[in-house]
Amino acid sequence: MKTTLSLIKADTGSVGGHNRPSEAMVAMAKERLADAVKSGLLSDGRVTFTGDDIALLMVHTYGVDHADIHKFAWDTFVETTNIAKSQGLYGAGQDLLKDAFSGNVRGMGPGSCEVEFEERPAEPFIVFAGDKCGPGVFNYPLFSCFADPYHNAGLLLAPEMHAGFTYNIMDVNYTEADKVITLKVPQDYYDIATLLRDPNRYVIESVVENAGGLTAAVASTSRLHNIAGKYVGKDDPVAIVRSQKMFPSTGEILSPWARAHYTLGDNRGSHHVAVMPVVQNSIISFFDGPTIVSAAGYCVHEGKLTESVDLFDQPFWNHIRDKAARKTLELRDQGFFNPAMGPHDEMEYTGVVENLKRLDAKFVTRSPKK
Ligand code: F6R
Ligand code: MG
Ligand code: MG
Repeated sequence: MKTTLSLIKADTGSVGGHNRPSEAMVAMAKERLADAVKSGLLSDGRVTFTGDDIALLMVHTYGVDHADIHKFAWDTFVETTNIAKSQGLYGAGQDLLKDAFSGNVRGMGPGSCEVEFEERPAEPFIVFAGDKCGPGVFNYPLFSCFADPYHNAGLLLAPEMHAGFTYNIMDVNYTEADKVITLKVPQDYYDIATLLRDPNRYVIESVVENAGGLTAAVASTSRLHNIAGKYVGKDDPVAIVRSQKMFPSTGEILSPWARAHYTLGDNRGSHHVAVMPVVQNSIISFFDGPTIVSAAGYCVHEGKLTESVDLFDQPFWNHIRDKAARKTLELRDQGFFNPAMGPHDEMEYTGVVENLKRLDAKFVTRSPKK
């Protein structure tokens, strides 16, 4: 029997601004998840939060895109929204962009990724959850660990990985349907790099190992402003990465996060910021940020999860957190002067663009010199 991991995450309201969900909201999600395990819908699951988002990790046998699983997640977020409303929390129901559930949470606001596999005798995997950033936050780390032997010498050392990996990359600016390209490393290395260098537009959907065709990683691809046509909050990206043996080791998957790479997000979703790796259930603070990502390691066996290991909760990452804070402050130092802020088409609030339109009308075109 195959096992499916479904990871669905949404901001349905938070305490003190866009900072964290309330205890009551998290308790409600945990209670519903326990009920779903009791009723047999799920074989196991976990509830965590990252900044103002609640993440549901669900284990089951229904495969990806199953309406019952998605409806369970949607209904859970409706319930946590109701609690947020009853407590007068900020941004209640922020990521629930549609009024009625229509079979799948994709395109409705929550971030989601799912993977189905035959369990290996030992099945380690990592759950990544980001807040105050877009799904492109995973471009650099997933490129680095699956494609770049300079960074990950495991690609050279382990014969199991010699055949390389296949990337499925989505053009998230195309909103009529999913528009995806499939490219392989090592042969398409430069083409993959050409796309992934623009993480606001080209986003990794999944990575598959070439030798056996097993899915190594899945990541969410939804962009809220592409769904709603306007700013309605920053995306809440999630990813699941399987590790060890035919996949990079857990440490090789974590190590790119030591770069504290710059991404677009932070306050009002409009600033460049260094990604800070944080422990699970971390809050948002400085400048409505900084952008944070947590990493939880699990094994799953016959549909049951082990306890999680909080992978960024180790002294090494304190050094990286300091580095991320330093890099963020370096850029914050120049305020609104680019590239501190994002490009115009990524401005998440309309103020700058509206001002530019008004000012454009006041420009005077001088007649060309004779
Ligand atoms: C970014 C974010 C916050 C808000 C900011 C203003 O993802 O959630 O930075 O954009 O706090 O929020 P509103 O517009 O709700 O007052
Ligand atoms: Mg929010
Ligand atoms: Mg959020």
